[in-house]
Amino acid sequence: MTTKVQTLIDKLVCENLKALVPYESARRLFAASDNSQDAQIPVWLNANESPYANDYELNSDLLNRYPDCQPSSVIKSYAAYAGINNKQLLVSRGADEGIELLIRAFCTPGKDSVLICPPTYGMYAISAQTCNVGVAVAPLNSDFALDIDKIKSFKDKVNLVFICSPNNPTGTSVAPEQIKQVLEHFADSALVVVDEAYIEFDAICTFASKLADYPNLVILRTLSKAFALAGIRCGFTLANEKIIHTLLKVIAPYPMPEPVAQIATQALSDKGLALMSLQVEQIANEKTKLKQALTELAALAEIELVGDDKANFILFRCAQKQALMDFLVSRKMFIRDQSKQLQLSNCLRITAGNEQQNQQLLDLIKQFFISKQNTGSPS
Ligand SMILES: Cc1ncc(COP(=O)(O)O)c(C=O)c1O
Repeated sequence: MTTKVQTLIDKLVCENLKALVPYESARRLFAASDNSQDAQIPVWLNANESPYANDYELNSDLLNRYPDCQPSSVIKSYAAYAGINNKQLLVSRGADEGIELLIRAFCTPGKDSVLICPPTYGMYAISAQTCNVGVAVAPLNSDFALDIDKIKSFKDKVNLVFICSPNNPTGTSVAPEQIKQVLEHFADSALVVVDEAYIEFDAICTFASKLADYPNLVILRTLSKAFALAGIRCGFTLANEKIIHTLLKVIAPYPMPEPVAQIATQALSDKGLALMSLQVEQIANEKTKLKQALTELAALAEIELVGDDKANFILFRCAQKQALMDFLVSRKMFIRDQSKQLQLSNCLRITAGNEQQNQQLLDLIKQFFISKQNTGSPS
């Protein structure tokens, strides 16, 4: 039976999916560890989520109705927050859906390509591959700045240019001058998508006020990070009204569940925004402490900080990265291995958690290196 289904699948499955390895989300990677019977509580510092779970109210009066495709309360509040007009905004199931909609709307399968600048967020390439769209690559320079000349060489060869700022996983923000150069160079040939998923942690760098200056500028945002709402799947695409209009051609008829719209509206109220700012500040303090502690550990542990800390995470290089990862995973402390990314050999990424989680992590890292020094291998 199973073989029969497999034969059928092999016959029918899209050519471009045959070799595709799906995105290894933090959840997928450690799903099994979460279900085990032992009493140890897992600590999730591997998906750049917020450590805070905030309270919301739910009104069930409208749950018998299909929701609005673009709930006006969410659109109005987010547009006000971002300082743009309502027509320049699209709300979707996370920024991830925004990425996919852009590819589906602006790249013809089997013909067009997108440009990515690795090391960077993995979903640009995966989304393109699932849509049978090509992926061109202009790696970041060794200081993680954009390689402008290389990027420029793709003029007329790509339809979308993805730039992540602050960049996941390097934590570096792209110099505004570099983004402007890319926008100008591709003005008549490609959309430049600036992914600002982490912008609240480096708010000064936003390009939201530049939409009127650059008709080919698209910005991605999310409630998953600073707003502490990864669980509701709510993201935004900010762009010229005509681009938004085109994206609305490919979006599902009811992408926003009613409870998501209600929670997002509360998160974007004055009270919600004040809470978000406070929590961003708390995370920034925790991140600074974490960074300091890792720097102090460097002598003992051959740890080297990599990139910058413009988002809510820290990246570091460690020669014993696999042994350290195994040690942490066995203690249900989950951080993210980034060592397969270009230029990031032996690199691990830690999301800044709350004080207790960070302390737990640091204690474990110290334990690992001390026992390694004493015995040659950690217990
Ligand atoms: C740079 C970047 N963009 C987009 C996303 C996806 O955001 P969302 O949860 O809104 O789909 C992530 C998630 O980690 C990210 O790191």
